Amino acid sequence: MKKLFITRPLPESVLSAAREVFDTSVRQSNLPLSAHDLRWVLREYDVVLPTLGDIFSAEVFEDVPDPRCKLLANFGVGYNHIDVAAATRSGILVSNTPGAVTDATADTALLLMLMSARRAAEGERLVRSGAWEGWHPTQMLGMHLSRKTVGIIGLGRIGQAIAQRCFYGFGMRVRYFSRTPKMMEFDARRFDSLTEMAREVDVLVACVPGGLETRHLVGADVFDAMQPHAHFVNVSRGDVVDETALIAALQDRRIGGAGLDVYEHEPKVPDALRALDNVTLLPHLGTAAHEVRNSMGMMAIDNLKAFAAGTPLPNAVNAVNAV
Ligand code: 8YV
Repeated sequence: MKKLFITRPLPESVLSAAREVFDTSVRQSNLPLSAHDLRWVLREYDVVLPTLGDIFSAEVFEDVPDPRCKLLANFGVGYNHIDVAAATRSGILVSNTPGAVTDATADTALLLMLMSARRAAEGERLVRSGAWEGWHPTQMLGMHLSRKTVGIIGLGRIGQAIAQRCFYGFGMRVRYFSRTPKMMEFDARRFDSLTEMAREVDVLVACVPGGLETRHLVGADVFDAMQPHAHFVNVSRGDVVDETALIAALQDRRIGGAGLDVYEHEPKVPDALRALDNVTLLPHLGTAAHEVRNSMGMMAIDNLKAFAAGTPLPNAVNAVNAV
C-alpha cells in the first residue's frame, strides 16, 4: 500500500475511503504545516492531501531534490498555496476539487450580497447589544437587491453559478469582467475594463482564482470607480483585493459596504476592518457545509485512487513526465 499523509482531520467517510486504498496518516491539527514539516512529508509519503494554508512554495520543493511524494491531491478548488510550476519541476502532480465547491461558494456570495446590502450583520449586532429601540420606518435602511446590476469578476464555474442566482433569483442584470467571452443562456455583458464595469454596477463580486496573476486586481482605482451606494463582495482569495484600499474606501464611505469571506493575510483580519460597521466579515465559510466538505474529500480521494491505479487523474492541474 502507498503511504498517504492527510494534513488536517477530514470527515470520517472521507478518511474511511482513503484507508481502503492507502496506508493513511492523518495529522490531528488544523494549523498550517510549517515549511520544515512540508519538506518532511514530501520525503516520507507517496501522496499527500493538503489544504489551503499549507504553503508549498518553490523553496520547499527545491529543498527536497528527490521527493518520495508524487501527488498533492488538494482539498479545494483553489491551489494558489501550491507553486504548481515548482511542483511540476519536481515531478509532482497536483490535483484539485472543482465542481464540488461551486454551488456552496456561489451561495456564500449571495449570502454576503444580501447581508451587506441589507445591513444584516449590523442589525444582528444591534439586537444582541440590547440597544434596539423598536421598528421605525427609516430604521437601518439598506439597498434592495432585486433588479439591480451585478458585476462579476471572473466568470468561471463559480462566477456563472453566481450569475444564475442573480438573474433567476433576483431578476438582476449581469455584467462580467473576463479575458474571454462566455456563453450564458441569458444576456450577460462582458467588460474588458474592470473600472468601467465597476462604474456601472450596484454590486461587484470577486470570484477569480488567487495567485500572482490576480494579486491586487481590485484596488483603489476600482473602489474610486464604484458608485457610493454600491457593495463589494469577495469569495475568492484575499490577495485579489488591495485590503488597504478597501479599508480606505469603507472608512471614507466611498462605497456602500462590503462582504468578505476571505482576507489578504488569513486568518489575520486588520483591526481597521474589524472596527467598521459597513463591512460583513465571515471566517472563510465558502464551502463549510457537511455535504460539500464530504464531496470535496471524495473528489480528492478519486484523484488519489486514479493515481494508485496508474490511470489519468480526473482533476489534474499539471502534467509531469515521470508518471
Ligand atoms: C475550501 C476554498 O474550503 O475550494 C477552495 O478553494 O477556498 C474553500 O472554500 C478550502 O480551499 C479548503 O482547502
